[in-house]
Amino acid sequence: MHIINPATEEVLATVAEGDAPDIDAAVKAAREAFENGPWPRIRPHQRTEYLLKIAELVQQHAEELAHVITLDNGKPISEARNEVARAAEVFIFYAGWVTKIFGETNPSDPSLFNYTLCEPLGVCGQIIPWNGPLSMVAWKVAPALACGNTVVLKPAEQTPLPALAFGQLTLKAGLPDGVVNIVTGFGPTAGAAIARHSDVDNVAFTGSTSVGKEILHAAAGNLKHVSLELGGKSPNIIFDDANIELAVTGSATGIFRNQGQVCCAGSRIFVQQKTYDEFAERLTQAASSIRLGDPLEPRTTMGPLVSGEQYERVLGYLKVGKQEGASVRAGGERGPQSRGYFVRPTVFADVKGSMRIAREEIFGPVASLIPFQDETDAVLQANDTIYGLAAAVWTRDINRAHALARSLKAGTVWINCYGILDPISSFGGYKQSGFGRELGKHSIELYTQAKSVFIKF
Ligand code: NAI
Ligand code: MG
Repeated sequence: MHIINPATEEVLATVAEGDAPDIDAAVKAAREAFENGPWPRIRPHQRTEYLLKIAELVQQHAEELAHVITLDNGKPISEARNEVARAAEVFIFYAGWVTKIFGETNPSDPSLFNYTLCEPLGVCGQIIPWNGPLSMVAWKVAPALACGNTVVLKPAEQTPLPALAFGQLTLKAGLPDGVVNIVTGFGPTAGAAIARHSDVDNVAFTGSTSVGKEILHAAAGNLKHVSLELGGKSPNIIFDDANIELAVTGSATGIFRNQGQVCCAGSRIFVQQKTYDEFAERLTQAASSIRLGDPLEPRTTMGPLVSGEQYERVLGYLKVGKQEGASVRAGGERGPQSRGYFVRPTVFADVKGSMRIAREEIFGPVASLIPFQDETDAVLQANDTIYGLAAAVWTRDINRAHALARSLKAGTVWINCYGILDPISSFGGYKQSGFGRELGKHSIELYTQAKSVFIKF
């Protein structure tokens, strides 16, 4: 497979195109490592040390990894550096968990001693997207390893290089053979082979809702454990009483970071009527001040979209928005560059909840501004979506903030901020944004299963 640099459209590298037989070989290696290798059997303290070693290697190779991310994905180098730092933190976080995966002793019949063990699942299949090509590796691999599983990971066909660079670091860390297996390839071939493989115990997927549904079907064959982190159309709600300056800055980051290719992007921006015009004006200014360009240039704040396919998709939505009658306040077209998948940060005003740009995940730097009247109206409009990944509220009224945190149907709610993620806290979706929660203690639950043991005196 040719890997394209989205900033130049030039071939960056060529990687192997894995298919079902390669997945099968990887699963065999992972199975052997799980059943007969040291990984699930070593002292937990030792697994902690391995995970810490991986984190340390990621930090030591931070600059190299950040460059690989930017070359492969197109995000600004500052964002890539941040991604590397966050990925290392995820390994550090789960390194601490290894020795805290406790079982329980249970008050059963007095003639019995009953305890519950928390055991690994076995071979974990992991299919990840291109928008966070290293962070997604960390979110999937770190907790699976912490629990004593072995993994077969397939990175996205657009951005396999950060995962491959990470794989080399696991070799450097001296992980036992077969514990981490990375197979590059396309979704319908290599990815589907993981989802349907009869000797894979779990499949964790991040990507589109439509592929998530296919994976769920394929996983039914051997009843794999499934976790799905899918699309979103997250509401970002600005009340008249908000600190408007902070709301504008936060909302701009919420929709424009990573070129808007973020599952929890705040793509539907609801603004209360009195503030609407001023907010629209200020967000337009914020969008226009974004520096779109070479993502390796340190001052660049927006790079190209990841691929020609994503570029065409987003340009298609810009056309749809105009046809539907939304008004373009900023952007609305491709960037001025002669090469590369650059799209200008775009603000659509006068958007109605029924328009496609307000209903479908665009996954690009496109904000839709929608007015609302009051709290009830805001919640009704915000929840009127098939998705439920995240939501945000900007207000100075603490009662309202707490009330909305409860009434918004989303896996994460931000109050007076946007996009904060922390390995300490769960992440995942309501409704068609998927199920299963990652990060925090929730990933430990995803990658373990309980076993109840009864001993008769
Ligand atoms: P996708 O869902 O097709 O790809 C994500 C991953 O799934 C990749 O590794 C891909 O190879 C794999 N895959 C694809 N088809 C598969 C199959 N049949 N069986 C197993 N694995 C399969 O997403 P794509 O096509 O890259 O982007 C399409 C849209 O999906 C985006 O425009 C965006 O709306 C959404 N998306 C959401 C993401 C999120 O973070 N939740 C990430 C990427 C895309
Ligand atoms: Mg696809």
